[in-house]
Amino acid sequence: MHHLTRIVALPLCALVFIACGGDAEPDANGDEPSNGLTAFEEEHGIGPFTVAVTLEDPIDPEKAEMGQHVFEANCEACHMLDESFVGPELGTVLDRRSPTFVLNMIMNPEEMTRRHPVVQEMLREYPLIMPYQNISEEEALAILEYLRTVH
Ligand code: HEC
Repeated sequence: MHHLTRIVALPLCALVFIACGGDAEPDANGDEPSNGLTAFEEEHGIGPFTVAVTLEDPIDPEKAEMGQHVFEANCEACHMLDESFVGPELGTVLDRRSPTFVLNMIMNPEEMTRRHPVVQEMLREYPLIMPYQNISEEEALAILEYLRTVH
């Protein structure tokens, strides 16, 4: 865990920035301030997946296995399936978020962190900003398939 201290410390500066810039006032109706996101983006996140992905198809075991490899190589440093670590536990993420939200977070974490209120809320608990890792669309879908198998 010690090797993570350095990467955790740096984004904290960025975090102060986000926290200071984000305090818009509620509008006249007392509603939450408009954050510039579409209803789709609110639910499904911001990124390359602009059409909601559904999980109606049965799990594809080969795809899930590929996803497990990508997960072990790129995600396990920060995520566990059954408890919080550097980032949230991901075994039950599909209870909290739509599949498309998960995909957009995997492929576009920086913009998600900068613009999505749900991710900004997570920053209170997990002050590290999830880094961009150049995960392809195919790999992201494979990770999603893997997360379905452990869900
Ligand atoms: C360097 C640490 C790090 C790595 C590597 C990382 N993440 Fe994250 N992840 C985070 C943090 C921290 C958060 C919380 C949001 C934030 O602060 O950006 C997060 C949030 C998430 C979320 C949203 C969880 C929720 O409850 O909404 C998902 C999904 C996710 N990560 C998936 C992945 C996947 C899949 C990978 C591998 C491709 C990955 N992450 C790699 C640190 C990391």
